[in-house]
Amino acid sequence: MTLELQPVAPSVPEDRPPDVGGASPIAPGASPGVSGPSPEVPGASPAQGVAWHHRHLLDLDVVSWPEIELVLHTTDAMKEVLARPIAKVPALRGRNVTILFYEASTRTRVSFEVAAKNLSADVVNIAAQTSSVTKGESLVDTIRTVEALGAQMLVMRHGTSGAPYLAAEIFGGSVLNGGDGWHAHPTQALLDLYTMRERLPGGSVEGRKIVILGDVLHSRVARSNIWSLTAAGADLWLCGPSTLLRGFEAWAARGAAGGRRFTVTSDVSAALRDADVVMALRIQRERMASGLLPSLREYAARYGLTLDRLGLAKPDALVMHPGPMNEGVEIAPEVAVHPRSVITDQVTNGVAIRMALLYLLAGVHGEVAA
Ligand code: CP
Repeated sequence: MTLELQPVAPSVPEDRPPDVGGASPIAPGASPGVSGPSPEVPGASPAQGVAWHHRHLLDLDVVSWPEIELVLHTTDAMKEVLARPIAKVPALRGRNVTILFYEASTRTRVSFEVAAKNLSADVVNIAAQTSSVTKGESLVDTIRTVEALGAQMLVMRHGTSGAPYLAAEIFGGSVLNGGDGWHAHPTQALLDLYTMRERLPGGSVEGRKIVILGDVLHSRVARSNIWSLTAAGADLWLCGPSTLLRGFEAWAARGAAGGRRFTVTSDVSAALRDADVVMALRIQRERMASGLLPSLREYAARYGLTLDRLGLAKPDALVMHPGPMNEGVEIAPEVAVHPRSVITDQVTNGVAIRMALLYLLAGVHGEVAA
């Protein structure tokens, strides 16, 4: 299969930038799964020669830094596509992308759908609440059923940690994890990293102090960010009440992959002081066991990201939140819309990141199928 970033007809106007016109990331006849795409986008060269070998994207623990850079550079190419008057390319024409969500979602579900449609895939959306899951159908049966109905790439969210791993064992195509329980949210971590690099002076997170603040215990976003941000060389800090950091001290002492270090603390002032990025996490009331927090009011008073607390960070520090937000709890409303907030950039970048991932995984799957 040849993946293309050539525009879908009708063609774009003649005055488009020369570097996006007819950009084809893969030379005719090249095998995308062997060489990896090399997007014809200025500045995209550092990823040259790096291959994407993963059939599934379940978490980032098994994704190397050069592979993460390949995703980021492919995302640059996708942003070029999104800047065109007609933001649609035929790369996944004839491919079926099925989106199967067992938990509520706005950002992840919609951005995957938009991404797949921008790549000209055929998109099927299944919400577990309105499917035969409600009649007792098992996850395994559901996966077999969607494959029998033509699914070739499966984007999945599930409330149980590990569910996409089970799906990957059964499904013949590629599984992309759209969030599983407390465990992992790899596409969110990649769009977070992309947004930081896009918005930080110098375009790198290396050596930057990045603070993830809040309900770390229940956060799949924090867990996936540990892999990507330590791989990127960031000075990563996790901060929250000790009840919401359980287990992370031991992980920090051990280090992430390759012994990469990060800091865990309940001292919010120490964490925020001179930070380059502050990412507030949602208090996940639906996953919260009783006794972990005295009250939301007390949590907001002691750990909420207020203007005063933001004042401890560097003057140009970025404010982030993966969403959805509980304004007035983990983040003050005025901080959410602060000029330094890049929260809507995170949402927007979710489309380009997911286009890049669908594109890269389709290349591998095409090769496997061949
Ligand atoms: N960040 C995130 O996963 O948001 P949704 O639950 O809206 O997809």
